[in-house]
Amino acid sequence: MKKKELKIPRIKDGTVIDHITPGNAIKVLHILGIPHSSSAVVSVAMNVRSKMGKKDIVKVENRELDRHEVDKIALISPKATINIIRDYEVAKKHRVELPDEIIGIVKCSNPTCISNSKEPVKSRFKVISKDPPRIKCYYCEREPEDISERII
Ligand code: CTP
Ligand code: ZN
Repeated sequence: MKKKELKIPRIKDGTVIDHITPGNAIKVLHILGIPHSSSAVVSVAMNVRSKMGKKDIVKVENRELDRHEVDKIALISPKATINIIRDYEVAKKHRVELPDEIIGIVKCSNPTCISNSKEPVKSRFKVISKDPPRIKCYYCEREPEDISERII
């Protein structure tokens, strides 16, 4: 390895979230509840050079992600890949992909939307574009522009 090249170590078991939109690693940590609700061992690299420009990387040891977390990551980093590491090997690799509808993970930007009322109605959005992510409220049709600020 060249002297100036700084690499984060490979991990034994856990999840590597790779090809994160540069600058968004912090948002990924927030989505994973790190450090507030998780004491997992984590390494982060930001603005690392890659084949297609720059990227961020988050490595979380001894943890796999659930569907909701992966959908949230897809909303802020549509090109991210999720690599499951088992005994140092990449056991599974897949790119994040938004489903056609997302329920209960983004707050509608319309204060008078039924999903923001006292009614027990979960937010529901139709995905109109996966990359770049664009979503539209199922109830009031409003399209939030600042999706990453509205993730619940
Ligand atoms: N990785 C790791 N620990 C391991 C194995 C892999 O941290 N034990 C990381 C690598 O550093 C890389 C990611 O997991 O960031 C995916 O590994 P790999 O598939 O080997 O890398 P690439 O082929 O470069 O992946 P891609 O084609 O998705 O860019
Ligand atoms: Zn709405």
